[in-house]
Amino acid sequence: MPHGKARRLLVRCAQRIPVTKPLDASLPTAPGAASAPRRLFRFEGGNAGPWTVRHMQVCKGEALPLVDRLAVHSEPVPWGSAGAWTLRGITSNERYVERVERSALVERQEGLGRPGSTHAALIPIRKTAAWWALTQDERRNVFEAQSRHIAIGMDYLPAIARRLHHCRDLGADEPFDFLTWFEYAPEDEKSFDALLRALRASPEWAYVDREIDIRLQLSSM
Ligand code: HEM
Repeated sequence: MPHGKARRLLVRCAQRIPVTKPLDASLPTAPGAASAPRRLFRFEGGNAGPWTVRHMQVCKGEALPLVDRLAVHSEPVPWGSAGAWTLRGITSNERYVERVERSALVERQEGLGRPGSTHAALIPIRKTAAWWALTQDERRNVFEAQSRHIAIGMDYLPAIARRLHHCRDLGADEPFDFLTWFEYAPEDEKSFDALLRALRASPEWAYVDREIDIRLQLSSM
């Protein structure tokens, strides 16, 4: 998409962008990908992939070019790029969750890929230098004691399934710190919106300086 057109179509928070119907194509995956541990993920925005982009909403910071489709690749080395933009992240060990919280999460949460989860959201997030200057204890204090991130999120399980990808572990030049991915049934989107409102109003979000809310719908390839 030409740069000028993308810029015209982008809006700031609260306003959503309908996007045109998708083109069709699938992307190659690396040989051996199926047998490798699936920790590295590549999110490719362009005109290919099973997810149709319903709208992209810039919440904070710099936008990403508008795209029609999203492909998610999991490969041993997901460094390729074929779309308008590529975001990369890696799943990792937990930083904040405590034993009792983890047990409750494991009991309630469901995995990705449920047949009814035809809607999804990719929300890339970057946090400020001030966040990263905090100690681990201080971050946990903002994250849970002040913001109740886990307690709030727990209320939305198992309707919302999620996976958190870390970007800083891949290098210093990644455009975001986290790629958050959520899947749910269409009828749960309102409740997902309520979850986001609660988290965005929390002290934790004062440390977010870039956020783009990309809503998706599963389509045939
Ligand atoms: C569906 C309900 C949700 C639950 C149960 C949940 C739970 C969690 C948990 C347990 C962690 C900490 C993992 C660790 O210990 O390292 C976490 C981290 C995180 N979550 Fe959520 N979450 C939910 C929804 C959301 C939503 C809607 C967003 C916003 C897009 C979000 C963004 C994040 C981010 C950015 C982190 C990383 C925080 C950091 O390391 O600084 N979560 N979440």
